[in-house]
Amino acid sequence: MSDEMKRSDEMKRSDETPTPPDRAEPGRETAARPLPPKRAQIVLSGTKPTGEHLHLGNYFGALRQFVDLQDQHDTALYFIADYHSMTTLRNGPERRRNTLNVALDYLAAGLDPARAILFRQSDLPEVAELTWFLTSVTPMGMLERAHAYKAAIDKGEDVDHGLFTYPVLMAADILLYGSHLVPVGRDQKQHIEMARDMAHRFNRLYDCEALTLPEPYILEETATVPGTDGRKMSKSYGNTIAMFAAKKALQKSVMGIVTDSTPVEAPKDTAQAVFEIWSLFATPPEREAMLERARAGGLGYGDVKKDLFTRLMDYFEPMRARRAALEARPDEIEAILRAGAVRARALAMPVLEACREAAGVGPLR
Ligand code: AMP
Ligand code: TRP
Repeated sequence: MSDEMKRSDEMKRSDETPTPPDRAEPGRETAARPLPPKRAQIVLSGTKPTGEHLHLGNYFGALRQFVDLQDQHDTALYFIADYHSMTTLRNGPERRRNTLNVALDYLAAGLDPARAILFRQSDLPEVAELTWFLTSVTPMGMLERAHAYKAAIDKGEDVDHGLFTYPVLMAADILLYGSHLVPVGRDQKQHIEMARDMAHRFNRLYDCEALTLPEPYILEETATVPGTDGRKMSKSYGNTIAMFAAKKALQKSVMGIVTDSTPVEAPKDTAQAVFEIWSLFATPPEREAMLERARAGGLGYGDVKKDLFTRLMDYFEPMRARRAALEARPDEIEAILRAGAVRARALAMPVLEACREAAGVGPLR
């Protein structure tokens, strides 16, 4: 990777990409937040349909930024990565159910088909063609360095080719639509760097400018949301707090957040998941006050968890209501996704044509 390619550290994005909105008013997605003027950039991101509901890591790490960026940019594309989920989920009906659930979570959280293009990855199988184009310029060594692949190998798992080539499909997702900015959690940063590398190599090898080099958009404070056991919140660790789970189940996961065994009177270590998760639902001054109380001693974890549960229910209540209303209208969701695919294709075809042209693939001219 050249020095120029290495520069995509998320800290550098601040001079090129919009400032995140002030989070002093969390809770209501309707809260007025001053947003910078719209940009003529293309924003794109996706979520895998691997579970019943999205969790707090998905929401604070990614989805909330999707909602903000749809207002700040002329073109925002958000898709459901059903092809990607095939590396781990081998149940067709479940994938369809999960796909609908991600669409509902997207819409409930505030993604708006009038402002963003919402679509299903597999409605544009063209992405598989671009995957092949990219595969043929991607060194094995690059893919062998991918965190997800290395972790699977370290665990002694039998790795399918799909898992190995996952970063190429993800690069194709990003590059097919000429995306500039990709809002994600920190766990996806390496994948975006690889997409930049692949785009650069394709352009260089075919002496063209068919592909645009994307930038990650990662908010420092929510880049890695911890789960109930303190590790990164992730479906595969079973440590998630789902956005829209039933009240009882949510209460159970919140009360199950692991804490140390310091007695109530003693000062607390504030670098614990319970404080980090609670802080997601608090204003900066509230957070300061809470951490002060924790350091002083006399604060019980049970009270923090109860307050977290109340805040969490309040925060998601309006979205929950919207989701319930939408759930009754699956045909409407399907229509939204299909209309999104038509708009996405209009962006994809010129890019794919430019790649075919550069590579000398397709009809003789
Ligand atoms: P996935 O469910 O793996 O498709 O993830 C969808 C989005 O959520 C991606 O942008 C991830 O980076 C983000 N994400 C998932 N888990 C976390 C987490 N614990 N903290 C921050 N972002 C996350
Ligand atoms: N790999 C991402 C994840 O696991 C999901 C994803 C697939 C994605 N294609 C993408 C994210 C393109 C951003 C852009 O979270």
